[in-house]
Amino acid sequence: MNTSIAHVAVTRRRFLRQTFAFSALAAFGSVPGMAAPEVSDERAAELLMIGDWGYDRNHAAQSGVAEGMRKYREEHRLRTQALLMLGDNWYGALDGGVHSPRWQTQFEQMYPAEAFDCPAYAILGNHDYQHWPDSKVGAELEYANIGKTRWFMPARWYRFAFPEASPLITFLALDSNMPFADGSATHGVNFTLTPQQQAEQLSWLESELERPRTTPFLAVMGHHPVYSDGPHGDHPVLMRDWDPLFRKYKVDLYLAGHDHDLQHLEFEGHPTSFFLSGGGGADLYDLKIDPSERGPYGQKIYGFSHLSVTPKQMMLRHLDSDGRILHAFTRTPEGKIAIVT
Ligand SMILES: [Fe+2]
Ligand SMILES: [Zn+2]
Repeated sequence: MNTSIAHVAVTRRRFLRQTFAFSALAAFGSVPGMAAPEVSDERAAELLMIGDWGYDRNHAAQSGVAEGMRKYREEHRLRTQALLMLGDNWYGALDGGVHSPRWQTQFEQMYPAEAFDCPAYAILGNHDYQHWPDSKVGAELEYANIGKTRWFMPARWYRFAFPEASPLITFLALDSNMPFADGSATHGVNFTLTPQQQAEQLSWLESELERPRTTPFLAVMGHHPVYSDGPHGDHPVLMRDWDPLFRKYKVDLYLAGHDHDLQHLEFEGHPTSFFLSGGGGADLYDLKIDPSERGPYGQKIYGFSHLSVTPKQMMLRHLDSDGRILHAFTRTPEGKIAIVT
């Protein structure tokens, strides 16, 4: 490995030590109870996210997580202003494409508009990149344009600011489906970006990052993690192509799914917090690296995640399917991080 991208992992214990070293933030360490001091913050913009959710074999776990999201929203009277759908939106067949009944049962009704009356910004995962029977990618792009839906996917990669009215965070939503290791873009029903699309997206990403910042925070999201303690591990292509840009342009946050668990990774000297939310409904995976070695957090569990943003800080939380907080941290625009739970 190129030494310039070798990272020192930050473990939870070390992280907690660092947290208490930030005197201004030390108060967070003593927040009692469920440690959600900002949930009721009127000024905060609120967004919930899930990854790996549209499972085909059974809907029990997906329904459980969706129920937890509704319960959590009610308990905390959250005004959810956006949902993020982090890919692997559809496992298995999507017969009928945009007309598949799964759009109703596993999206519109699963995360109902009565509870989540907001856009659902979606990106594509490897399970979306399948001809089953026709391109699910095509269906997902098309579904955003038909009738009344909250599904938002104007292209394979796109930019949006959140909240729309007076943005606090800029998102660059990416397509992480890189061509296969043998250089091809098709394997049976599975396909990927073409090498040309891969190059096009990379230059788009750099040109977007070069633009002057207009929001206190900048996040990038892609289905595949750059770094993961789960079975898929670290992604050599994303480490080569995207990670140097995250460092150069000081991206605050990278959001991913793909490994079916919940994670938060920090690396010493790296400006980006890596946050993975892949517990939306598909069968769970065992972690391969213990989060005590590389963390501060990782857990094999179903759940969803919550991002609150104010001009002064972001708070990110992982929650289980009962809406209980498993892990939470704050991050300032200067990049100071404190673990809350
Ligand atoms: Fe997945
Ligand atoms: Zn995946």
